[in-house]
Amino acid sequence: MKKILSILLLLAFMAVACAFAEGDQEAENYTRYFDYTPVENAPIGLVPGENHNTLVLYFSRVGNTAFPEEVDAVSYASQNVTEGEKLVGTAQIVAGWIADETGGDVFPIQTACAYPEAFWDTVTVIEGQEKDRVHPRMAAIPEDMTGYDTVWLVTPIWAYSVCLPVRSFLESVDLSGKTVYVFTTHCGSGMSDAMEVVQALQPNADVRKGMAIASDPFDEVRDDVIQFVQSNQG
Ligand SMILES: Cc1cc2nc3c(=O)[nH]c(=O)nc-3n(C[C@H](O)[C@H](O)[C@H](O)COP(=O)(O)O)c2cc1C
Repeated sequence: MKKILSILLLLAFMAVACAFAEGDQEAENYTRYFDYTPVENAPIGLVPGENHNTLVLYFSRVGNTAFPEEVDAVSYASQNVTEGEKLVGTAQIVAGWIADETGGDVFPIQTACAYPEAFWDTVTVIEGQEKDRVHPRMAAIPEDMTGYDTVWLVTPIWAYSVCLPVRSFLESVDLSGKTVYVFTTHCGSGMSDAMEVVQALQPNADVRKGMAIASDPFDEVRDDVIQFVQSNQG
């Protein structure tokens, strides 16, 4: 009995040790490019709508960055759109418009580790991760995507392409047979190579061009997005 208890204790200790080792290893994919302590992103997970044939996927810096609780709208205004006191991402807002129009489920793409708070520090980490072909681990992926026939993907352009976390996410899921509309948010790069990149990562999906949305000016595009969705949803 004593022996069994010791083995169980040892196994429990090993499980904890492994979990820490795994976390540390993933954190190194960030900290080796910039010296900071990345926190784990709290997974938001699937937010159900009323139309379970449609999925809206988006990635935003907000939700993937350890921003302080109290935000100063002026300092963050150049990188993030603010709604009242709250920081919200550009892609997050566009995804919200699409979700309101389609009634689809929404899934925020999140990496396991948060990127640094300052914009240029995130750029530094991303440049390193791109150079070393890092595949950031996801905080979560949707459990079952078989029921969706249409996917609306809203991705920021980072380093002139589909941002690395979204590419990593697309490597982890199977969108075969689904229609995938690709929207980008950007500061000048437009669609860049988003269509080719998404199609290459999901060769069996019907990948279609959505819209390229500049983060500034931004509010005027809402009607165009709604119109696009209305004329393209099945
Ligand atoms: C690390 C990083 C790299 C970026 N690289 C580009 C780029 O190459 N081209 C571009 O047009 N915008 C670039 N941007 C700007 C974002 O694409 C743009 O601000 C986007 O709307 C952000 O969406 P979000 O607020 O939902 O995160 C970059 C932003 C970050 C954080």
